[in-house]
Amino acid sequence: MDEFLRKKGSNPGRGSHSMAIAAGEKIEETRILVARLINASERERVIFTLNCTDGLNLGLKGLLRPGDHVITSRIGHNSLVRPLRKLEQHGVRVTRLAPCLDTGVVSSMDIERAITKDTKLVVITHISNVNGVIQPIEEYGKVARRHDIIFMVDAAQTAGKYPIDVEVSNIDLLAFSGHKGLFGPPGTGVLYVGNRVELDSLREGGTGSQSELEEQPVVLPYRYESGTVNSVGISGLGAGLKFIFNESLDKILAYNRKLVDRLIEGLTAIPGVLLYTAKERSSQAPVLSFNIDEYEPGEVGAILDQAFDIKVRTGLHCAPAAHRTLGTYPLGTIRLSPGYFNTVEEIDLTLQALDKIARTKLD
Ligand SMILES: Cc1ncc(COP(=O)(O)O)c(C=O)c1O
Repeated sequence: MDEFLRKKGSNPGRGSHSMAIAAGEKIEETRILVARLINASERERVIFTLNCTDGLNLGLKGLLRPGDHVITSRIGHNSLVRPLRKLEQHGVRVTRLAPCLDTGVVSSMDIERAITKDTKLVVITHISNVNGVIQPIEEYGKVARRHDIIFMVDAAQTAGKYPIDVEVSNIDLLAFSGHKGLFGPPGTGVLYVGNRVELDSLREGGTGSQSELEEQPVVLPYRYESGTVNSVGISGLGAGLKFIFNESLDKILAYNRKLVDRLIEGLTAIPGVLLYTAKERSSQAPVLSFNIDEYEPGEVGAILDQAFDIKVRTGLHCAPAAHRTLGTYPLGTIRLSPGYFNTVEEIDLTLQALDKIARTKLD
């Protein structure tokens, strides 16, 4: 990003001087890397957004009209829950499916049973940011395609951590953030728009292309990218993607899995810890929620921060619906979400700290 601002820091598509061209090339380079990550055959179908929330809003509000029916799960983040609530006020009907209590997974048979003649969209969160249970998106994609329904996935927690193939999983709309598993900076995100989908734009304006038109260009990606893009952030996202390709997704996945396994084993041995994990270890992503007997989650977070300098998120994690489903509403949980730059030593220190905290109330 530093290099981008020093050497290319101009507005892409605005002017034909060398810096504007270099900036445009950097953005297209990142677009190609994103397309490669998700196996999108046409890079112009990769739309840069402000964050995952922005992509979800564009996908939902650009697609849905009064009278349409949507099927979703009860484990979504507010970035999905709230736009759907808003759309309900405008005549969109929403069916919310609970995951199976035992496995934490939403059944594809339940999705198929909920389909009506008005169903336009199935939209699912790939991994809940509360309990980290991986949902079988390939199965859902098959159901949606069989019924000629648009399939959208919120991959905020999985992009860069798990393989996602829009072709194999029949995904028509895929939204994710740049600042989580992709190692990009905050203020970056992506919406992939497949060729079965025609979305209305939510924002019209300057695109640096077809400037003679007073109407919004319909050409992708410009139809949905109005105004100055976050070129600095996108160049940072590109660097994050290159890092992932250099390391390999498999290596990142295996390392994250090792940290999660260590955490689960350690947490299970601490007295009074109640874990909200997947039934099968293979369905558990590196997002773990738990509580400790006699403690409110916020209390544990504050002790970890102040006494041990360990930063964790506590409370509802912007996903009250998921907590209602898990039975952890309204206090929420303590969440640990280790990443590729965490070390085994950090995991062990966290476990030791939690063990001390748990035993304090027992003594
Ligand atoms: C599952 C899920 N969806 C969507 C979002 C929203 O992402 P953003 O903050 O990039 O809009 C988050 C953020 O944590 C998330 O965990």
